[in-house]
Amino acid sequence: MATSMNLSFPESDLAVLTLDMPGKGANILSRPILEELSVNLDRLEERGDLAGLVITSGKPGIFIAGADLREFLSSLDAPDEAIVDKCVLGQKLFQRLSEVPFVTVAAIDGICVGGGAELAMWCDRRIMSDGAKTELGFPEVKLGIFPGWGGTARSPRMIGLANAVEMVTGGASIGAEEAHKLGWISQIAPVDRLTDAAIRLIRNEQKSKDYLADRERWAGPIDISETELGFLGATASAMIQQQTKGQYPAPIAALEVMLGGAGLDVNAALDLEARGMAKLFGSPVNSALLNIFFLTDRNKKDTGVDGEFTPQKINSAAVIGAGIMGAGIAAANVKRQVVTALSDANQKALQSGVKGILDEVSFNKKTRKPDLDRAIEFAPLLNATESDAEVASADVVIEAIVENLEVKRQIYGRLEPLLREDAILASNTSTIPITELAAELERPEQFCGIHFFNPVRKMKLVEVIRGEKTSDQTVATAVAYAKRLGKSPIVVNDGPGFLVNRLLLPYMNEALELIVNGAQIKDIEKVAKQFGMPMGPITLYDMVGLDTAFYAGRTMWEAFPDRISASPILPALVKAGRLGRKSGLGFFSYQNKKKRAQPDPDLQQYVEPYMQEETREFTAAEIESRLFLPMLLEATRVLEEKLVRDVRDVDLGLIFGIGFPPFKGGLLYWADTLGAANIVEALKPLEDMGPRAQPTPLLLEMAAAGKKFYDS
Ligand code: NAI
Repeated sequence: MATSMNLSFPESDLAVLTLDMPGKGANILSRPILEELSVNLDRLEERGDLAGLVITSGKPGIFIAGADLREFLSSLDAPDEAIVDKCVLGQKLFQRLSEVPFVTVAAIDGICVGGGAELAMWCDRRIMSDGAKTELGFPEVKLGIFPGWGGTARSPRMIGLANAVEMVTGGASIGAEEAHKLGWISQIAPVDRLTDAAIRLIRNEQKSKDYLADRERWAGPIDISETELGFLGATASAMIQQQTKGQYPAPIAALEVMLGGAGLDVNAALDLEARGMAKLFGSPVNSALLNIFFLTDRNKKDTGVDGEFTPQKINSAAVIGAGIMGAGIAAANVKRQVVTALSDANQKALQSGVKGILDEVSFNKKTRKPDLDRAIEFAPLLNATESDAEVASADVVIEAIVENLEVKRQIYGRLEPLLREDAILASNTSTIPITELAAELERPEQFCGIHFFNPVRKMKLVEVIRGEKTSDQTVATAVAYAKRLGKSPIVVNDGPGFLVNRLLLPYMNEALELIVNGAQIKDIEKVAKQFGMPMGPITLYDMVGLDTAFYAGRTMWEAFPDRISASPILPALVKAGRLGRKSGLGFFSYQNKKKRAQPDPDLQQYVEPYMQEETREFTAAEIESRLFLPMLLEATRVLEEKLVRDVRDVDLGLIFGIGFPPFKGGLLYWADTLGAANIVEALKPLEDMGPRAQPTPLLLEMAAAGKKFYDS
């Protein structure tokens, strides 16, 4: 078997162990790798004459990317004792790095996270490169667990309890400079001198013997008073509660383990860690978050098409329409160094679009201000133009003008003859079918939807929409292009509302139905938020704008009149000028100093005329079923129609597109945890609602066969 570690001896008493997993882009701590580390440590210990060991990576930009998560999958159902054993095995192995009779140093260039950070942490000393990718962190809480190979026990002894709690419970990575400030690493060195610097460090430690004092110190309890401990516990748990809303148990569990282990020696703290980890491992939230990891990983590798197609290179883009979306799309291009032409029929709109783009691309995250250097770097990439010839010379042309079929078609008619043979033309339309937009084109195979979400800056999702005649080559290119912009594209066949809006609409629609049935808005909002949605559906209406929601809804009522009815509440509010947040009044009032949503007693007069004669109260469970089951049923119809290529596209689309709660793993993943037969049961009390709550053939078939969505 090919080895993943290379042992060399630059000097007779100095070993360098270089991790370099063959055929992999990253070093990952799988079981065989850990065994190999153990064998190498045996060999080195046996020598008896070694002064030091440097552990480093042969992969530029990656030290160790963490533990092998695929191995996790096979142990999700393992009993607690087996998980404790796995943790102890890793802890004991890494702990050897702080007990061997020579100095150990981790020389880190690039990403060093999760199990990789733990391995480095157990070394006597660490140094990091000044490379741009170098970072250190414990992202485990993002997977619903915490570090289980000593991360919670050793880090507080090394950098102080408060700092360690922040790193472990927050899950964010830090760069070399911050790591140095915290005392996590001894020094920062240029990449090409990293190993030399590590060897010098070993020679110094050999003389000073400081590392031996640290070994002793870091093996004992933490020096912290009861008062400090109490204060830290109270403030950290309040902060965690605020951030997780009680929906993510790992950070608070990590905090408890770290506080509990503070007064103990490191071995007792390690024992607490292993037992705490076993409680989280395999929990529903852990499994759901692992699913998110694999969804995202698959998306990164997915080309969007089933055959082999080489996407065309996109080096230049043109965006037509400099409004909210056009400006956002242009900025996304410029930020990724794509030369971009921007045009708009309205000169003022073009000017204000350009200003917005420059403000956005020059924004410096660190100083939180526009940055002149960035403006100078990016400005030459943006060309505001009125010339069709300049627009048409781009590799991809994205239309983001007013949502009107005729006006869009006119633009295409004018531009298509000017486009290069291989150029792609795309629309950012949110409602108009791609096939209809393409009807008069000469080359409909080179046309598709590239549907960005608002605000483009924040939203990672892009729907690449395939019209009837769109070619695989075009889809593959659009997918690769969206990835170049840092987005997560999913490929969706043409259809009303495409994927995300189609699934969102039944949920939004149901919120209005609930109101006329007698449910209280505050209860609807509360249930949605407790389910894990970033905001309730009524708040979302106000944010999207009631006029926009009305027009978007119309596509759906027209397409699916059997299951989506046009609620009269929206037009009534729009008519009264209550457009939502943007007009200061919608379902809520925003006419207060902080522009916060507040209940508005006047709302009742617009809703009252449409209330059902017999209203009633609703329990939280009823509201939850009403909001989420119609959405789920619509997803089963989407699968029946083969609108997407894989169930995971539905889940990724909803998580990235509307903030469906990650801790539920995705809509269909969540459905699998309930089971199809139970869902059919849960739909029975909703029978009166008609087709929109009727189990679909796919759901019934799955219930009968005991199948899961993720089996397909
Ligand atoms: P917007 O109204 O902010 O901007 C549209 C721009 O297009 C305006 O600046 C207008 O002057 C310009 N324009 C109109 N007709 C034109 C023409 N014939 N030639 C050149 N420029 C013309 O609209 P927004 O919100 O940016 O929407 C643009 C497109 O993106 C629409 O198709 C919309 O459905 C879609 N979309 C909108 C989202 C949103 O949340 N606003 C989300 C996703 C898609």
